[in-house]
Amino acid sequence: MDRLQGKLALVTGSGSGLGEAITRRFAEEGAEVVVNDLDPGAAERVAKEVDGHVLTFDVSDSAAVRRGFAEVAERFGRLDILVNNAGIAPRYSDEERAERDALLLQHVTELQGGGEVTTFLDTTVSLPDEDWREMLAVHLDGTFFCTREALKIMGPRRSGAIVNMGSIMGTSGGSGAPAYCAAKAGIMGFSRAVALEVVGRGIRVNAIAPGFIDTPMTAPIGAARPLLLAQTPMARFGEPDDIAWAAVYLASDEAKFVTGQVLSPNGGWHMSQ
Ligand SMILES: NC(=O)c1ccc[n+]([C@@H]2O[C@H](COP(=O)([O-])OP(=O)(O)OC[C@H]3O[C@@H](n4cnc5c(N)ncnc54)[C@H](O)[C@@H]3O)[C@@H](O)[C@H]2O)c1
Repeated sequence: MDRLQGKLALVTGSGSGLGEAITRRFAEEGAEVVVNDLDPGAAERVAKEVDGHVLTFDVSDSAAVRRGFAEVAERFGRLDILVNNAGIAPRYSDEERAERDALLLQHVTELQGGGEVTTFLDTTVSLPDEDWREMLAVHLDGTFFCTREALKIMGPRRSGAIVNMGSIMGTSGGSGAPAYCAAKAGIMGFSRAVALEVVGRGIRVNAIAPGFIDTPMTAPIGAARPLLLAQTPMARFGEPDDIAWAAVYLASDEAKFVTGQVLSPNGGWHMSQ
């Protein structure tokens, strides 16, 4: 119950899903938590439940991130843990999603049937610039902007733990999600580079690469769900706590010899090392 006693943690995108679960476990483990989210109502709700603080900035807005972390520095004079968790899924209407799911199922059926493949997703060939840029802005720019500002606080104190949210989509790829996969792979590469750079300052940087977890982000997955379950040896989606415990471990002193790693609770989807 006291693995994070006395630590100050900021979790981005913690008004929902994985960030919310991480925030709850952090608070239970004794951390004082700053809840960040774009959605002020969601951030207020979670902060109230964990007796935490609220900072509503957009992680993809460099100036807003700078102001947010300046406020942390001024108010608390320290930051022990940063979790770069804020993220978005590709935005589809219900109709678009149903159409894409049907296409994907048909495509996979044709591929596995061994005959001629005539159904294609064609996501990359039709992806608009703004969709590509938005995905990279929230995930990759956001992780960079927040890490840069956090290091300004952690560096002089020569201590800190940063946990970045990757995905098995960044490890194994995922059909029809090129921007999301690129962003998540980028986050994992970024984590390794920064881990090496700041190891001498006593700061650890690691990533988590979750498999499919039941959260509001994955709730709209319908017809494609059986396909995803078939690819998961444990044959189910994970729970937010499966990721929250990984974050507690990586943020705590129990992981004091762990840096530059990707920890992947994924039900066996991808096996490594
Ligand atoms: N759920 C999964 O299966 C899964 C798997 C692998 C990785 N992830 C990653 O985990 C993270 C959390 O996902 P989730 O499933 O909890 O999603 P979610 O949609 O439940 O929560 C994401 C939160 O981030 C916030 N947010 C979005 N853009 C933001 C921005 N620009 N600035 C600040 N906050 C912002 C949202 O308001 C929301 O509260 C994401 O990075 C996601 O890509 C999720």
